[in-house]
Amino acid sequence: MLPFQSILPPTTIQGGILPHWLLFISVVSVFNSAQNYLIKDLSLTRKVYSAAPTTEVTNLSARTFGTWTLLTSIVRLYGAYNIVGNKQMYDLCIWTFVVAGGHFASEWLVFKNCKLDKGLAGPLIVASTSLIWMFTQKEFYVGV
Ligand SMILES: *[C@@H]1O[C@H](CO)[C@@H](O)[C@H](O)[C@H]1NC(C)=O
Repeated sequence: MLPFQSILPPTTIQGGILPHWLLFISVVSVFNSAQNYLIKDLSLTRKVYSAAPTTEVTNLSARTFGTWTLLTSIVRLYGAYNIVGNKQMYDLCIWTFVVAGGHFASEWLVFKNCKLDKGLAGPLIVASTSLIWMFTQKEFYVGV
């Protein structure tokens, strides 16, 4: 057994489409994170913050974005394998969408670094549909 194997998730997933969705966006976000961090390609991040792509999207802000994206991905990855019957895990996943959605909405409406365009639409749609999805399915998954 490899040293880190004990912290990897199990290989089976239970309970409907939602956990698969969490797994999917988690994996996609890890690549997004790596893009900011390792490949140092800021082009995608600049599309998201397209109202101030060069002044506000700096190397540091992109790495910070990559850092919270990675943390968020880890929470959702755990959620993908553990939300069934686990209210705390389920709520943690909901919070990742509240925080992410709040960030994008505030960068759009308050801080004005985003415009309502293709770059913002992706993250905003993922956050809002996931939030609605998780709220409406909460009873099915955790019974409260
Ligand atoms: C940002 O990172 C790029 C790629 O590593 C580098 O070429 C550039 O000099 C950096 N910019 C600043 C302001 O440090």
